[in-house]
Amino acid sequence: MAAVLETKIQAAHAAPPNLVLPLAEYISPASFELERERIFSRAWLLAAHASDLSAPGDYVERSFDVPKASVLIVRGTDGRIRAFHNICRHRGNRLVDVGSTGNKRRFSCSFHGWTWSCEGALKGVTDEGQFSGIDKDELGLLPVHCEEWNGLVFLNFARFPEETLEEWLGELAPGYGDYFQSQQRLSSHRFEIEANWNLAVNAFTEGYHTMFIHRNTAGDYQGGASNPQRHRPFMQFMRRHTRYSAPANPDHRLAPSEAIAYRFGRKLLPAACFDNDGLPPAVNPSRAEHWLFDVIELFPNVVMLLGQHYRIELRFLPVSASRTVVINETFVYQPDNLAERASQELFRIREKEVVREDLSLLEAQHAALATGVMEHVVLSRQEMALAHHFRVRQAMLEVSP
Ligand code: FES
Ligand SMILES: [Fe+2]
Repeated sequence: MAAVLETKIQAAHAAPPNLVLPLAEYISPASFELERERIFSRAWLLAAHASDLSAPGDYVERSFDVPKASVLIVRGTDGRIRAFHNICRHRGNRLVDVGSTGNKRRFSCSFHGWTWSCEGALKGVTDEGQFSGIDKDELGLLPVHCEEWNGLVFLNFARFPEETLEEWLGELAPGYGDYFQSQQRLSSHRFEIEANWNLAVNAFTEGYHTMFIHRNTAGDYQGGASNPQRHRPFMQFMRRHTRYSAPANPDHRLAPSEAIAYRFGRKLLPAACFDNDGLPPAVNPSRAEHWLFDVIELFPNVVMLLGQHYRIELRFLPVSASRTVVINETFVYQPDNLAERASQELFRIREKEVVREDLSLLEAQHAALATGVMEHVVLSRQEMALAHHFRVRQAMLEVSP
């Protein structure tokens, strides 16, 4: 019988997380209202990428159902990225369209023509003489707290955030070098599912399911003869976030298309990394021998898969207790030759199929749990990241803002 791979665990908490959870209660509408107030109105939320805002005046609009907001994120002429509520300070019109991106020197309201600079200062009031006692300095766009980490742009909707972004990220923050900045977006998909956001996050933070759901698309990427149950070589539970490594199968048989692509270029999924070549210290942090990728849960609603030459990002945007929008993006390096470009296309297509599989069971799971007939779920040690997610969630719910 093959030896069982022991998972190396690092935890910020002395006690192991609870492995029996009242999941039906956690996905109820009552829980959702608390999460709106005590998590999504206080957490740092990933909202954009600095690479989409490379020049002064570049902007993106981002909408949130929870907490309710439309946000204009813009790079100023001073190079700084700022965020504002997408609301005209005259009578509350939207300044830019929902979902829009572009470049502007001035933001002009289509209702009565007031204008603002990229730094949010009110620059022009049409027919200004008809207003009495107007103080333009008081009528700048309403700011949203906005900070950047490794080219990822985060927002915080609290009036006074309890922590800086760096404090919020904690142990997760250091050690990535230019890993994120050296990659560029390859694909972006939006899914909308009838399932609670917690369940959606949970579907991406354990590897126990990979042998079953992904048997036709990613059948032999993980585990292999030396680790048949695909145990994670490394798991790290931080104050808020989780990081673990997924085990590569050293005996994975390359498909003919992969063999050609990898002969000429760097390897994407499902290539295993056995050399740690060029990896910053925070990626494959335990330097696991058979390493496929890391999974990060950036609490509350982001999961990232970090490979040697690619990353997958998933943002789970709650709409209601039973509806979630999933934004799924992939990022890769600048291809050096056609084989690498072909390899990236293979990766792009396969990644979408695999993510669809991950999402495919969630609606049925949510509907079944929402009946409330099953009071608890039990988790394996390989699913400890789920328990950690709910511990962190619980700790935030217990503190009123
Ligand atoms: S509502 Fe924007 S200028 Fe009047
Ligand atoms: Fe999966």
